[in-house]
Amino acid sequence: MTKLTAAITAVGKYLPEYVLTNKILETMVETNDEWIISRTGIKERRILKEDGKGTSFMAIKACENLIEKSDLNPKEIDLVIVATATPDMQAASTAAFVAAKIGATNAFAFDMDSACSSFLYGMSTVAAFIESGKYKKVLLIGADKNSSMIDYKDRTTCIIFGDGAAAVLFEPNSEGLGLQDEYLRTDGNGREFLKVMKGGSSYPLKKGEEFGNSEEYFIKQEGRTVFKNAVFNMADSCARILEANNLKKEDIDWLAAHQANKRIIDATANRMELEESQVMINIEKYGNTTSATLPLLLADYESQLKKGDKIIFAAFGGGFSWGAIYFKWAYNTK
Ligand code: UT7
Repeated sequence: MTKLTAAITAVGKYLPEYVLTNKILETMVETNDEWIISRTGIKERRILKEDGKGTSFMAIKACENLIEKSDLNPKEIDLVIVATATPDMQAASTAAFVAAKIGATNAFAFDMDSACSSFLYGMSTVAAFIESGKYKKVLLIGADKNSSMIDYKDRTTCIIFGDGAAAVLFEPNSEGLGLQDEYLRTDGNGREFLKVMKGGSSYPLKKGEEFGNSEEYFIKQEGRTVFKNAVFNMADSCARILEANNLKKEDIDWLAAHQANKRIIDATANRMELEESQVMINIEKYGNTTSATLPLLLADYESQLKKGDKIIFAAFGGGFSWGAIYFKWAYNTK
């Protein structure tokens, strides 16, 4: 029997209209355009402003974009996974709502959260479902409304994060394209360095307490510690995956790395000795969109990708969580 691999066959994206530029941030906190660009590579980010619209709003739009581009019949979708660190609600799952709204009435659906590694881990999860032979069309959506957990008085975080979503369709492939190999790790000792302390089950919002009065309802990170761990672990995961698959730098067509900080991406690419032209980059437009960075790269670079292209995906995020995936692209864009 031919071995089935999990290939990507379509992508779609959605970004909110509102553009939060570095210039606007200069009016909100003590910062400046030059500092933000030189320390992070970010020029602007998108923010979902409208009250009552959550992560599902962007996820649904990204799926609709994918469905329109690919002529996918939503009724044929078997499984919908939303990778997100900012679900609409504590209960029920964002994925269930997304599946219902896009008409995926024959699918089951669930959310996955591992902070900025959510989409990378989602790829591994989807591949296992597809390789089982039981599931033929699986939607993996990376979506985050990071603005919902940002304190816009904290200059160390508000300059980094943005909102956005992108959706990817996985299908079985018998030509050996799609997910080839993976190296994924976590270390929960890292959670102290990047977290939203309150609002979960350990420290739930108390009756009478106003959300927004405590900084602990917003993202806090020890930037330098996260930075150092990100650089080391993303580069290390990539080196391991190259070695395990006998790949040299010239064999790689693309590096698709989590877009958290341009300096982290550059350090990873340098360690792999890649040329600039091999590195996907869009952080300047969107900032760090957490679970959406990797699929947004695919959506933005789709027209340049060719069947058989070898891509290394890499991510690092809260948890700590990190890893790398070796992937072969399955189609040429018409
Ligand atoms: O997605 C995964 C999770 N996140 C990450 O991977 C992010 C990892 N960390 C980073 O990207 C970087 O650590 C930051 C972008 C968050 C910060 O950059 P940095 O180069 O590590 O800056 P720093 O924290 O070492 O701060 C350097 C200086 C400090 O001033 P002093 O103490 O040297 O006087 C900060 O107070 O820069 C100051 N600073 C700022 N200045 C202007 C911090 N934020 C700002 C700001 N504008 N927005």
